[in-house]
Amino acid sequence: MNSESSTLPVKDLYDVEVFLFLIMSYTVKAMITKNERETIELGKKLALALPKGSTIALKGDLAGGKTTFTKGIGEALHIKEVINSPTFTILKIYQGDLPLYHIDAYRLENNDYDLGISEYEDEGIMVVEWPEYYTNYLPKEYMEVRFTYIDDDTREIEFIPHGEQYEKILEELQC
Ligand SMILES: Nc1ncnc2c1ncn2[C@@H]1O[C@H](COP(=O)(O)OP(=O)(O)OP(=O)(O)O)[C@@H](O)[C@H]1O
Ligand SMILES: [Mg+2]
Repeated sequence: MNSESSTLPVKDLYDVEVFLFLIMSYTVKAMITKNERETIELGKKLALALPKGSTIALKGDLAGGKTTFTKGIGEALHIKEVINSPTFTILKIYQGDLPLYHIDAYRLENNDYDLGISEYEDEGIMVVEWPEYYTNYLPKEYMEVRFTYIDDDTREIEFIPHGEQYEKILEELQC
């Protein structure tokens, strides 16, 4: 038996790596923010590029900046109310230029809890913190934003589009 038949030659492996790198660098954007305000501005910038009916899934570390980022989305929509994450509140709806459906799914114990907003989602912008606990009700296409805690003031924030529409938005986003 030819022992090499099931392995790729090194050159082919290298090509695969380069190909994956090109795809990743094409569709994903990663940024560093150095303070709370920069994260708010990033949220604002993304929200200004989104059409009505968009969904944003905010993943990552505790105190990573998910709610802070949502404050920026609120600024873009001219929401006057203070956006926060009160303990035990899973869904809050804020009225601005469009309604903002802010879900913090951290306290949902599983993915089967229907918040009953699917029929309204098209009317506004839906933001889901801890989407891992809400997967059954997330639309197929959405913008994932991943937060990594680097140090007290520094966060890495990555935009990962799911679906063609979000890829296009990300390509056009200047950041
Ligand atoms: N660069 C930064 N970006 C965002 N927040 C920052 C930054 N630097 C410091 N912070 C602080 O980190 C905290 C982030 O808290 P925030 O509530 O936004 O996180 P979270 O990801 O929503 O957490 P949780 O998982 O508990 O909901 C705030 O106190 C904020 O002031
Ligand atoms: Mg939060």
